[in-house]
Amino acid sequence: MTAEPRISRFSPEYDQPVRGDPITAERYVSAEWMELENRNLWPRVWHLGGVLADLQEEGDVIRHNFGRESVIMVRQADGAIRAFYNTCPHRGNRLILGDVSSAPRISCSYHGWQFDPDGTLVHVQDADDFAGGNPCGKVTLSELRCETWGPFVFWCMDADVAPLREWLAPFPERLAAYGLENWVRVLNLSCDCDFNWKIIRDNFNESYHLPTIHPELSTFINDGLPTTLFEMYPSGHNAMWMIGHQATTRKDYVSGDVPPGLYEAAEAWGIDPKAYRGRTDAIREAVIAAKRAHGAGRGYTSYAAMSDQQLVDYYHCTLFPNLTLTMSPEQCQILRTEPHPTDPEKCVFQHWCLYPPVAGMTEVDTPVGKARLAHDAIARHSRYGDGESLGFVADQDLSIGTTQQQGLNSRGFRGCILSGQEKRIQRFHELLDDMVHGRRA
Ligand code: FES
Ligand SMILES: [Fe+2]
Repeated sequence: MTAEPRISRFSPEYDQPVRGDPITAERYVSAEWMELENRNLWPRVWHLGGVLADLQEEGDVIRHNFGRESVIMVRQADGAIRAFYNTCPHRGNRLILGDVSSAPRISCSYHGWQFDPDGTLVHVQDADDFAGGNPCGKVTLSELRCETWGPFVFWCMDADVAPLREWLAPFPERLAAYGLENWVRVLNLSCDCDFNWKIIRDNFNESYHLPTIHPELSTFINDGLPTTLFEMYPSGHNAMWMIGHQATTRKDYVSGDVPPGLYEAAEAWGIDPKAYRGRTDAIREAVIAAKRAHGAGRGYTSYAAMSDQQLVDYYHCTLFPNLTLTMSPEQCQILRTEPHPTDPEKCVFQHWCLYPPVAGMTEVDTPVGKARLAHDAIARHSRYGDGESLGFVADQDLSIGTTQQQGLNSRGFRGCILSGQEKRIQRFHELLDDMVHGRRA
């Protein structure tokens, strides 16, 4: 049994029909499903490869390992960025072995072939020993599509996929007021996980787990169902608006004292929380007014362009198939899972946080503590479960991954039973079904 195609709480403008395809365990555990994704899904979507801050000068390179594939993005002499498969045309050795690098030429560590940043072979050993003569100038690296949006660089393996901005719709327009272009990636965390990549995608496509997995958020994010707005766009991407600077309506947090979390959020904008005893739900409006009055003076230059909703609420954007952006005016969280090269029951989880550059601000609060407001001030890779935090909310989400994977392997699991509010999960899987079975481009 799966979700009914009903529209309550789904923005009528951005609701989409679902068919009710069964969501069984196979897609989370089987090598055949993984192979179908490798063949029909991953080549046909845009992938976030990195941030422009790592590509400032000619010859700067970002490497993005993705499943069995590896892609490099390279800054060119004319300022453009081009992407290439990270494989040597000679006999296939992987060329770039670090996450970021910079050199006038890309060199292969095996027989020393060298390539200009534009991918052209410019040096080989024993150049006259090749049938047809010196291969320099004739052989090139295999190129992929590469486009940028905001501070981000994306790559795509398929020539027929829509241009990046069109593919990202409606987010370039919806997120324009935040002014992401010059935001700084301060946090760059990743970890290896023992579950299929879709487990966390499902988690991000619903807010049903908030009261149980993230109870701490309930005093300053309203996870009540009546006020949470779900949107599903024609492009295949989904989103959710959650009311911020307000406690959940699942309990009475209004008639007493301002609860912790909301208390500090009010104080941060010069609002006396004690004055809101018995009417704590009015704090959100007060924060909007305070941000309008004092935001620019504190260096938040983008506030002026934002709607009230953008100023205080959370816009949680789940892009098909595997990228999430959670927006507030002061933080952009990038959360995503990527497949393991060979094992359908493992994935890589990434958590980046970007912050707007604010005059005079040298430090920011990240999900793992204070950090310098500087590019990749905190960057690390770990294994989930080894004690390195991915941020406390992310840790909570990841905590269910392994046990859910285990439960999905039971022959007693008969397929998901989704509530109405989990319709975005249903839609995600139906788009996925269509793509992996070649029914949708
Ligand atoms: S494989 Fe790269 S030079 Fe031989
Ligand atoms: Fe969560």
